[in-house]
Amino acid sequence: MEFSIKSGSPEKQRSGCVVVGVFEGRKLSAAAQAIDAASKQYLGEVLRRGDLEGKLGGTLMLHNVPQIPADRVLLVGLGRERDFNETSYRAALAAAMRALRSTGASEVNICLTDVPLKRRDIGWKVEHAVLAVKEGAYRFDRLKSKPPEAKRALRKVTLHVTKRAEIAEGEIALERGQAIAEGITLAKDLGNLPGNICTPTYLAEQAQDLGKRHGLKVEVLDRKDIEKLGMNCFLAVAQGSVQPPKLITIEYQGGKRDAPPVALVGKGITFDTGGISIKPSAEMDEMKFDMCGAASVMGTLKAIALMRLPLNVVGVIPATENMPDGAAIKPGDIVTTMSGQTVEILNTDAEGRLILCDALTYVEKFKPSAVVDIATLTAAMVIALGHVATGLFSNSDPLARELLAAGENAWDRAWHMPLWDDYQDALKSNFADIPNIGSRAGGSITAACFLSRFTKGYPWAHLDIAGTAWKSGAEKGATGRPVSMLVHFLSKRAV
Ligand code: BES
Ligand code: MN
Ligand code: ZN
Repeated sequence: MEFSIKSGSPEKQRSGCVVVGVFEGRKLSAAAQAIDAASKQYLGEVLRRGDLEGKLGGTLMLHNVPQIPADRVLLVGLGRERDFNETSYRAALAAAMRALRSTGASEVNICLTDVPLKRRDIGWKVEHAVLAVKEGAYRFDRLKSKPPEAKRALRKVTLHVTKRAEIAEGEIALERGQAIAEGITLAKDLGNLPGNICTPTYLAEQAQDLGKRHGLKVEVLDRKDIEKLGMNCFLAVAQGSVQPPKLITIEYQGGKRDAPPVALVGKGITFDTGGISIKPSAEMDEMKFDMCGAASVMGTLKAIALMRLPLNVVGVIPATENMPDGAAIKPGDIVTTMSGQTVEILNTDAEGRLILCDALTYVEKFKPSAVVDIATLTAAMVIALGHVATGLFSNSDPLARELLAAGENAWDRAWHMPLWDDYQDALKSNFADIPNIGSRAGGSITAACFLSRFTKGYPWAHLDIAGTAWKSGAEKGATGRPVSMLVHFLSKRAV
């Protein structure tokens, strides 16, 4: 798919479709007005018949609009003008993509960037138009024996800006949006692959491949190496699986040689059965998404490599399955972490924190300026924040503020959760230094408290993406979150 930026004259475009917006109350956007004027008020006439009210997400496809050279004009409802916000903008673009899918249009002009959006400039609108188009065009059908019948694919997308002066900024945003979209697509693809294909070994191979393509240094450690490092907690989770664990490190060097890197640590459980504390069967298939943290680290590295950001970043991924078998860990088992602290494993389904605690100790060797871990860590996070916001926990308020702001800019938002000492009391063991679970109450917070015992040496933030990494139901699939937030966070750090 090819993107470009153009200014003005929606009524003169000779493409398969020109997309314009209509607010509730049949109020035409500027681009729609231009088409209306050129077609002698044809749009106004159609709207008066009552076929489109302008409700957010409604669409009306018009063919052979008088005096308009494009094959089609797509009217997209924008909702109430005074309520128009970032979410409406993305929803309108998503609706346009759905309507375009059932047509044969392969070249389209999207004129929704002319709609004023409070606090957002043309760069923001262009970046998000690219993301929405790529999101709408995304399919994961490589595992179907016959790819479902598709109409002609979108080949050329032209995004319209209103003033020529906006073209330069639009083009920069186009590049940024495309790089982020590439990262998101990688994260989605890895997330959507089933556990029998996307094993720890497969993730390691994909990391090697990413490294080759983008000039990243990749190191994959095997069970023996992981044993030598004393990452016993990570190994404890892996011991119930026939798939060998991998510790994957990906280094991006865009900054000064000795500048301390930002470390991203991604939970890479390629399938989470719960282990001996086995999960109920319903929706267990979704536990193939338990490596979405790892996938977001790989997606982020791909995006920043494409953008050539001037900073150093290291991605660390502990990858394993969590399976029950004769060798699997049992509730009550006690293991010594890489940090030396001992952990009583009261529930083998709280495995994410077990692999992350060792990875968080391992990253110390890079002397990172900040560490962010990304994990589908707790079901309690879904109860707390639903599927809208990612949970953010941090031992550093400045770092938390950076990530919150990045999420706000990327419209891939996080919500700041407490990590007060008061919550640490839940982690008491009679037999080891700490148990791997606390009370059911505040389950996401006590999970973060567990991790905090291993992150005292650097500014650290934890992103619990259990509610945001994938969608269930009819639209089941990985979302690629929080790649966009992380790329924005790193971009800001790079200047
Ligand atoms: N991967 C799960 C968390 C999860 C479950 C995310 C369902 C999204 C949907 C994690 O490993 C897990 O099983 N956590 C347990 C922890 C509990 C045993 C303390 C949970 O949240 O139930
Ligand atoms: Mn689990
Ligand atoms: Zn898990």
